[in-house]
Amino acid sequence: MHLRLCINVDHVATIRQARRAAEPDPVHAARLCEDAGADGITAHLREDRRHIQDDDVTRLKATVRTPFNLEIACTDEMLAIAERLAPHQVTLVPEKREEITTEGGLDVTRDPERLEAAIKRMHAAGIRTALFIDPVPVMVERSHWLGAHAIELHTGRYCRHPHDERALEALQDAAQQAASLGLAVHAGHGLTIANVGAVAAIPQIEELNIGHSIVSHAVYTGLPAAVRAMRAAMDLPRG
Ligand code: PXP
Repeated sequence: MHLRLCINVDHVATIRQARRAAEPDPVHAARLCEDAGADGITAHLREDRRHIQDDDVTRLKATVRTPFNLEIACTDEMLAIAERLAPHQVTLVPEKREEITTEGGLDVTRDPERLEAAIKRMHAAGIRTALFIDPVPVMVERSHWLGAHAIELHTGRYCRHPHDERALEALQDAAQQAASLGLAVHAGHGLTIANVGAVAAIPQIEELNIGHSIVSHAVYTGLPAAVRAMRAAMDLPRG
């Protein structure tokens, strides 16, 4: 199975927002990523609009040639934007205004009625849904029960502790459990060229969402080279 590399362009917008300027433009960056071999483009429209803006997601949806994955919190405002935009996929993520990045997975055991209704709303609009969860059995089971198409496994713990075998095993076990339930398995958060190999080697994973490390490397090498380097690191374990 081809492991898709979906690139999160949020931090291109972070640099732009540092000056409230016109560049760098995440839409231009998305085009360069696609030209360099990205299989999809991801953007997170946060409630505080700290990086990606409403206009960015509109332009991304209009111009991206690969599947566009919109990350949002499960709020009425964001669900309405997703319905209007109709991206290929919506990934529901938890969001706290004070956090630097998405710190943990979505607790899908809380407020199941709200989540179930949100997933139904997305499906009615023809949008695939993924739930960004920690690699924990109950979260995988609940995601299936809620009717999502996919889960995205939060790789943060493994990335912070790459030598902790239990962190990697949790991802392996969750991927296996999810696939056996018929869920598509994605993963992401904190992945770098140095740590992506062990995650790419998990056979049930079909999509990785990677942002910060690629945008960081792009500062040194340019975006196309940064994308190709990540692709090469992902392909190594799969042969
Ligand atoms: N997947 C999800 C759901 C995320 O929220 C993020 C961070 O925005 C990523 C993947 C990408 O993480 P990173 O920027 O650390 O590669």
